[in-house]
Amino acid sequence: MAGSRVVALCNQKGGVGKTTSAVNLSVALSTFAKKVLLIDLDPQANSSVSFFGFGVFSSPRSVCDVLVDDNVSVREIIRRSDEGIDILPSNLNLAGAELELTGSIAGETALRDKLGPVQGDYDYVFIDCPPALNIFTINALVAATDVFVCVQPSFLPMVGTEQLTRTVKIVRDRLNKQLRISGVILTMCDERKIISRESINEINRYFSDVVFDSRIRVDVKLEEAPSHTKSIFKYAPDSHGAEDYMNLAKEVIRRVQG
Ligand SMILES: Nc1ncnc2c1ncn2[C@@H]1O[C@H](COP(=O)(O)OP(=O)(O)OP(=O)(O)O)[C@@H](O)[C@H]1O
Ligand SMILES: [Mg+2]
Repeated sequence: MAGSRVVALCNQKGGVGKTTSAVNLSVALSTFAKKVLLIDLDPQANSSVSFFGFGVFSSPRSVCDVLVDDNVSVREIIRRSDEGIDILPSNLNLAGAELELTGSIAGETALRDKLGPVQGDYDYVFIDCPPALNIFTINALVAATDVFVCVQPSFLPMVGTEQLTRTVKIVRDRLNKQLRISGVILTMCDERKIISRESINEINRYFSDVVFDSRIRVDVKLEEAPSHTKSIFKYAPDSHGAEDYMNLAKEVIRRVQG
């Protein structure tokens, strides 16, 4: 398919690097003159807070308004960041929208319906999903062309993964024929550890050819950057983290056209 790719960054396991990857991969792609929109679909609002410094309680209107209010368009909520990407921020109100969306007729397609008019403005739309297979993640899967699964090669890396692949299949069969898992990002890799190497083998066996060759190493700079409300490229451009996400961006451009 020509045109933009809409990529849902998923894993219902918490703390595996979804937000770190969503933010830094988005900024990395923008340095290759790609137009990128980052959608924060997590009520924790980590992307919004760490990237924009939007207060979790006090931020202005958010993706929540887009999802639950027919009269609010994506365009009026999008913010432009000084790091070259657009962001559709989240805030804590989104948690309250869960019940509302779950109970509404078009609750699963709300994001896709609203994204339609702006999707063509972007080469890539990344959706930072919450650590749950809830209505928000379903909305992301319905709107997406691609799923990137973030996996940390630690003890039991595949827990929950089968449930995720099953959910992707159900959404593909019923609501979104084009959806596919086209990338697996190995995050927080420490290949000196035996358990890490064993996990990487296990992940490769399960996902075979969709695992990205570019791995993201453990790097404390990636952990520090959000508290300075910066991407890794602004906070520590010479770090391993910056190098790894830049290499990943190149691989994404090669493998996933957009
Ligand atoms: N490569 C890395 N090296 C070191 N720390 C990292 C790395 N990637 C992410 N982190 C840190 O690990 C923690 C979890 O990462 P992150 O918030 O990106 O995960 P997540 O999957 O989005 O979590 P959640 O499921 O809660 O949304 C954060 O403190 C982050 O700064
Ligand atoms: Mg997150």
